[in-house]
Amino acid sequence: MPPAPKPEILAAFEAAKGFMPTGEGLALYAAAVEAGRLGLPLLEVGTYCGRSTILLADAAREAGVTALTVDHHRGSEEQQPGWEYHDPQTVDPEIGLMDTLPTFRRTLHEAGLEEHVIALVGRSLQVAKVWNSPLGLVFIDGGHTDEHANADYEGWAPHVAEGGLLVIHDVFPDPEDEFTGQAPYRIYLRALESGAFTEVSATDSLRVLRRTGAGV
Ligand SMILES: C[S@@+](CC[C@H](N)C(=O)[O-])C[C@H]1O[C@@H](n2cnc3c(N)ncnc32)[C@H](O)[C@@H]1O
Repeated sequence: MPPAPKPEILAAFEAAKGFMPTGEGLALYAAAVEAGRLGLPLLEVGTYCGRSTILLADAAREAGVTALTVDHHRGSEEQQPGWEYHDPQTVDPEIGLMDTLPTFRRTLHEAGLEEHVIALVGRSLQVAKVWNSPLGLVFIDGGHTDEHANADYEGWAPHVAEGGLLVIHDVFPDPEDEFTGQAPYRIYLRALESGAFTEVSATDSLRVLRRTGAGV
């Protein structure tokens, strides 16, 4: 049996605002527990309101490591007003822009996981440029344009330690399945073609790859 979160953690995850279905969340949790054994931080790109962060944070707590989560908190293209994934409650009425940071902080506080997470508020590319230490797991769930997905891959995948895991969400091999595009699928292919990563598991649109060679 793969490791599963305790019932209160699963309940907090399912109650949180966000986009990750439970089946994929359980696969992410199992990957995070395994990667935690390397004793290195676990990093997520794409915090939104903290739904998947809950799972990484709990796995980090179990392993005695820290979870890091990167987001500018202004939302992806498909989450802006007028798009299918827009939630008007995420808009700061004073400035008229999305701001998911307050909801994220409340989510983590209510789950009792604040002290296990470092929130990095900024653009993924910019944060990656100042990051220089190995990670046990990198989970890519940020922007869905090729520009952003490639920047996430190029910025963060090099930091996955030997034996560590690269997890990519929203991998849709069939273009009919996803209207926000196939950029995550293309970086998944890129990772496999690099020869540096080997697929470990596939759960719906979540792919878990392990670093088995150098480079990206
Ligand atoms: C699909 S949501 C993440 C969902 C979240 N993991 C969950 O479980 O609900 C994508 C997030 O990536 C963020 N994002 C998109 N492009 C980004 C970029 N270039 N840098 C930082 N964050 C970005 C958006 O603000 C958004 O919150």
